[in-house]
Amino acid sequence: MANPEAGRLLPLLSTPHKGGRSALTCQFRCGNACAHDVANTTGNAYFGDVVKEALSRRGVLRAGALGALAAGVGVAGAVPAFADEPLAQPEAAAAPLDEGFHGRGGIAFTPVPPNKDDALRIPDGYASSVVVRWGDPVLPDAPAFDFDNQTADAQNKQFGYNCDYVTFFPMGNNRGLLWVNHEYTDENLMFRGYTGGAAATEEQIRIALAAHGGSVVEIERVRGTGEWKLTTKGRRRYNRRVTAQTPMRFSGPAAGHALLRTAADPKGLAPVGMLNNCSGGFTPWGTVLTAEENFDQYFVNGDKVPEAQRPYISRYTITTGTPASSRRFDRIEERFDLAKHPNEANRFGWIVEIDPFDPDSTPIKRTALGRFKHEAANTTLARDGRLVVYMGDDSRFEYIYKFVSKNRYIPGFDRHNRTLLDEGTLYVAKFTGDSPAAEIDGSGRLPADGQFDGSGQWIPLVSGDRSYVDGMTAAEVLVYTRTAADKVGATKMDRPEDMERNPVTGGVYVALTNNSNRTAAQVDEANPRPSNKHGHILEVTERRDDAGETTFAWSLPLVCGDPNDPTTYFAGFDKSKVSPISCPDNVTFDADGNLWISTDGNQLGSNDGLFVMPVRGSDRGHLRQFLTVPLGAETCGPLVTADQKSVFVAVQHPGEIDGATPDSPASRWPDGDQPRPSVAVVWHGRGRKIGS
Ligand code: FEO
Ligand code: CA
Ligand code: CA
Ligand code: CA
Repeated sequence: MANPEAGRLLPLLSTPHKGGRSALTCQFRCGNACAHDVANTTGNAYFGDVVKEALSRRGVLRAGALGALAAGVGVAGAVPAFADEPLAQPEAAAAPLDEGFHGRGGIAFTPVPPNKDDALRIPDGYASSVVVRWGDPVLPDAPAFDFDNQTADAQNKQFGYNCDYVTFFPMGNNRGLLWVNHEYTDENLMFRGYTGGAAATEEQIRIALAAHGGSVVEIERVRGTGEWKLTTKGRRRYNRRVTAQTPMRFSGPAAGHALLRTAADPKGLAPVGMLNNCSGGFTPWGTVLTAEENFDQYFVNGDKVPEAQRPYISRYTITTGTPASSRRFDRIEERFDLAKHPNEANRFGWIVEIDPFDPDSTPIKRTALGRFKHEAANTTLARDGRLVVYMGDDSRFEYIYKFVSKNRYIPGFDRHNRTLLDEGTLYVAKFTGDSPAAEIDGSGRLPADGQFDGSGQWIPLVSGDRSYVDGMTAAEVLVYTRTAADKVGATKMDRPEDMERNPVTGGVYVALTNNSNRTAAQVDEANPRPSNKHGHILEVTERRDDAGETTFAWSLPLVCGDPNDPTTYFAGFDKSKVSPISCPDNVTFDADGNLWISTDGNQLGSNDGLFVMPVRGSDRGHLRQFLTVPLGAETCGPLVTADQKSVFVAVQHPGEIDGATPDSPASRWPDGDQPRPSVAVVWHGRGRKIGS
């Protein structure tokens, strides 16, 4: 163990980079995305044409059935609103939004104050524990973690680095499978004396490849509590590691297309590995959807691809010869050199479907869902039973998408359901404000109608082999989706991340993290603040509350920041009673339909946290902080179990603060030694429901 005093020499608050994180996070997570020029240089309207869609601002709510899932039943936070059959409408959900629900959706606990502690802080009366840490054995034959003697062979069998999306597949009341993404590696914190690039050892590069991807781990409840622990005995037959080297396959309309073919895979059907899997979602048939985000940073010689391809790949910020990160995967696998294999980058940036109940199954990259810097992919059903997937492209000035399947979901017809993600229509969103442009003046002041709100439209991009985009074939639209969306005039958003339907109220919520680059001339009613440091939450109400519709109403129930900042808005709730919040990233819901929000890159001087906000009744807008994560960490993967007894969070990159190294760590969470990204669980100490 290194000198425990060393970490104290680090500044408490390192100078944040433009995107709000430490320089280390910027380098390793997104390849210094914020330092790059904005990739979207199109003249797309920030404020589109007015869509005169007469939508009543909020219709009558429709309840989501919390059932109909096959193996995946049970996690309220992740259960989509399955509407494949007429739904029984619980009284509460059948009433208009504006009526009071105080006490029904209400949630009570003493908020955790902002802090810079190197600890997981939770409300009084609650308990927490670590479920699984980087390096913990996943496969039964995995060796114990040994920080100073890590090997690629061990890492291939152990829990990966930087856990992100978390979802849970119950197997009865007291057992289940946890799926966790491993977004990226921070070699500076994983290896002593790491300098990267040409100086990285081949073993370090192999460890990094193995520490990406995802894990399936079996967990079991500590009886009578909300605590869950890793199952450490028995066969653990579902436990699995997926890495940057796992064989995968393409399916859907672009599978096999020339743009996906490489020397190693001349048919363009068999990609290898997944990278930078950020958040995700799951399907009604009990599989995981995991989202490849900042894949661009792993490739070298991006400036040597054929001339004709350059405008397209530069939309994914692959523009220079050197990779944005220092990992140099190309030294181990030639495919990461785009001078030799220019199409290899096209094989990343997809939504990957993985069956957690079949450890031998081949992960599937679903091309019908388009290719961008996917943050997440959350499903719901249209009224007629078609599957809908909501997706954000997390970069400044990028877009919001949804996919609607051609065919209907049929409960129990697994073979049929597993074809749904291959055929359908991919849409991109356009937002129009309803207030005069003069009132959206960049001051952040609410317009005269009292709301940032308006209407919107889902613009079709591609349906099977039919392209709706001039000058692009269907396959080109799917592989170069950003360019396609530029051409149809989609609305440039402030880093659209998670987008998810509330299974109780039917509202669809989008986290818009921040956008320091938006100028006063570029504000619109959906992105109303210039230099948007703290982000906001967008609420979408699809026409007739039907996720299959192509028009919607929207509003901003939460404009984040310090409540004393006059540009913040908490759905009209008394701002003296709310917690400060900055940089919303992922969202989830509890069984009462309360919105849970995790943050990435708090710009108010506190650690990141997890918040909860009722979205209906008199408590709408009453945002409170439920927990904060340790120093340098980001809060990921929030998940509230259906019984509301447990809240899971992924604590990503603890101690990732400029200047930190293994010899001088900035965090010693969770074990008082080197920081280890981990999934933690929080429960009420007396076994009560969270917030009761
Ligand atoms: Fe990996 Fe968009 O955060
Ligand atoms: Ca308005
Ligand atoms: Ca994220
Ligand atoms: Ca989510």
